[in-house]
Amino acid sequence: MMTAISSPFSLAGKRILVTGASSGLGRQIAISCAQSGASLIICGRNVERLQETLSQLTGEGHSVIAGDLTDDDVIAQTVEQAGSIDGVVHCTGISVPMPARMTKREFMERLYSINVFTPQLLTAQLLLKNRINKDGAILFLSSIAAVRGVHGMSVYSGTKAALIAATRCLALETAKRGIRVNCLAPDLVETPMLHGSGANMPTEEWLDQQRAIHPLGLGTPDDVAHAAIFFLSSASRWITGTTLIMDGGITH
Ligand SMILES: NC(=O)c1ccc[n+]([C@@H]2O[C@H](COP(=O)([O-])OP(=O)(O)OC[C@H]3O[C@@H](n4cnc5c(N)ncnc54)[C@H](OP(=O)(O)O)[C@@H]3O)[C@@H](O)[C@H]2O)c1
Repeated sequence: MMTAISSPFSLAGKRILVTGASSGLGRQIAISCAQSGASLIICGRNVERLQETLSQLTGEGHSVIAGDLTDDDVIAQTVEQAGSIDGVVHCTGISVPMPARMTKREFMERLYSINVFTPQLLTAQLLLKNRINKDGAILFLSSIAAVRGVHGMSVYSGTKAALIAATRCLALETAKRGIRVNCLAPDLVETPMLHGSGANMPTEEWLDQQRAIHPLGLGTPDDVAHAAIFFLSSASRWITGTTLIMDGGITH
């Protein structure tokens, strides 16, 4: 008789909260976590797109929480509804290029509110209410822009660098509870974020140039989801406070 060997990369039996799950990386991370055996709590603002993500989740026990996470009441409601979890992946974020000379206070406040305050305040409430189980994992989405210069991204890069710094400190605070904290720093990944409208958004011509200069091309949402599974699973049980750079080999 064959004995089943459980993989350290499995998420079977785990409950994972994914923010920004109505699109791009968050959606794919939710789908891949469900394929690895987890039940998901998925968050975002757009109910229709959240339902679309929900319809792609295999397995059972998934739920949806809709709302704007820059609102403290929505954070409180999310923590309440999530219940006990084994992991959280913070994919909520916006990326808006802006020439440094055009930067205004309102623009900075919006980016910092969504990219920094939201993941850190949600994490704070999850820890305060003891929602994250022992051996649980917290995962932030930073960016390559936090570690190397990217034209027009001085504000965005600051928001993403803040998450790398916070990861190191949080990891020290949560280690005694057996909770790990890590961060992913991807370069360009083909998601709706790259194809938005607006004066400063990347052109298709620029994206083609980027595809050509990255030794392994640009990333896919699957690439990032596979790394997320590693950091959520017991395969990474000895890793905390770290940031994984994922850039197709352009930083060498
Ligand atoms: N794509 C890349 O190349 C890349 C590279 C490096 C890092 N990242 C980072 O990875 C994360 C995900 O990026 P992505 O490419 O998946 O972007 P995306 O496709 O634009 O998705 C962003 C997600 O954030 C959610 N969101 C935005 N503001 C929110 C708010 N106030 N409250 C609640 N949810 C909010 C959106 O929800 P709704 O649509 O429902 O509003 C959406 O689900 C971001 O932090 C980004 O900075 C992306």
